[in-house]
Amino acid sequence: MDYKSNSKEETVRSDVVEDFFVIGILVSKSDRKLKESLNKLSELGRIYKKGQVGAFSLEGINRDKQMINGYLYNEGMWNPSTFSMPDAIINRIYLNRKWESFFRKTIGRKMINNFTFNKWEMYKWLSTNSNLSKHLPITRLVNSPQDIIDFLGQYNEGIIKPINGSYGKGIYKVSKQAANFKVDTSLHQKEKKNSLYLTQEELEVFFKPKCKMRKYIIQQVIDLYVGNSPVDFRLIMVKDGTEEWKELGIIARKGSRNGIVSNIGFVRSGNLAFQNLLSISDYKAIEIRKKMTQVSLDAAKDMENYRGCNGNLGNLGIDLGLDKNQHLWIIEINHRNPGHRMAVDAGEYGIYSNSNKLIMDYAHKLAERMKESCI
Ligand SMILES: Nc1ncnc2c1ncn2[C@@H]1O[C@H](COP(=O)(O)OP(=O)(O)O)[C@@H](O)[C@H]1O
Ligand SMILES: [Mg+2]
Repeated sequence: MDYKSNSKEETVRSDVVEDFFVIGILVSKSDRKLKESLNKLSELGRIYKKGQVGAFSLEGINRDKQMINGYLYNEGMWNPSTFSMPDAIINRIYLNRKWESFFRKTIGRKMINNFTFNKWEMYKWLSTNSNLSKHLPITRLVNSPQDIIDFLGQYNEGIIKPINGSYGKGIYKVSKQAANFKVDTSLHQKEKKNSLYLTQEELEVFFKPKCKMRKYIIQQVIDLYVGNSPVDFRLIMVKDGTEEWKELGIIARKGSRNGIVSNIGFVRSGNLAFQNLLSISDYKAIEIRKKMTQVSLDAAKDMENYRGCNGNLGNLGIDLGLDKNQHLWIIEINHRNPGHRMAVDAGEYGIYSNSNKLIMDYAHKLAERMKESCI
């Protein structure tokens, strides 16, 4: 069924005149992927009552006509439809510069998460903020294996990760030993730890092709270990209908025994999960918890300034670490599609559905605005 949306139409009911908005969700690059993802988007379709929700992919956009072939949600179904540029968009994918500028020109700030940044850009930007720099591990860009060797010469050990990586893939822990270098790998599937012991030449040979393939950063190792496993925390933060950030809760994540990444292990719910995990007093736990919120809020606001006045973030999952001295570290700001479903895995369905509700409220608020532009 192909029909045109009545997005800009006004529905007149007695003397009430309402704008009928379409909120778009940019789900994927390809239509195939979009189709596969539709059933996961039904909740977003269902909760938005003030208009209609459209799901689409980059492939479905006709840039000249500014029309979209996608799906509109209606009474429990995603119907194939053609509709005009939505009144606000929730972006869930990586946008290259070309697409970023297309959306900036067409809908500007009315797209939530309208820009992407990599791990190195995040570090460079946030480390200039004196409130935040103490929460960032020392980080260097790796252009060649020599940069790794230099870093280890100074700090003895480091975590190497691809600047565009995700899901803990392709992460290495390297350390300098008396006679050689030790390399631990995060194997994605089973997350077994494989240690290699290499001479300097072997280390260079090991990392040379990797550095040619992609860009990495190397950073100070944060001791995230609680007992035998690394633990980190995912703080979920979205903007609401008042355009303010709201923190929805944290999820604790524990990696496997002796693993080097904590983000693919099991998740645990609860605001004070870390209190049990780290065995600290109530007082200390509350203090740390407040700090987690404050630091995340500062980082989110600051990151938004990275793209200037048109930059708009509204849906984030911030990865935080706490070391043995209870020092708080920002590990990563997930901003593409920060799977708040993790909250469901942790038994916190409320956090998940709240995040959907607030983000739709925010999208609606953006839809109501006039198009703004800035220099
Ligand atoms: N500097 C670090 N020190 C110790 N562990 C780290 C460090 N950076 C990352 N990790 C571990 O690796 C995991 C993945 O790192 P992250 O930067 O979030 O990359 P990804 O995008 O792959 O999730 C983290 O959740 C954490 O457990
Ligand atoms: Mg992460």
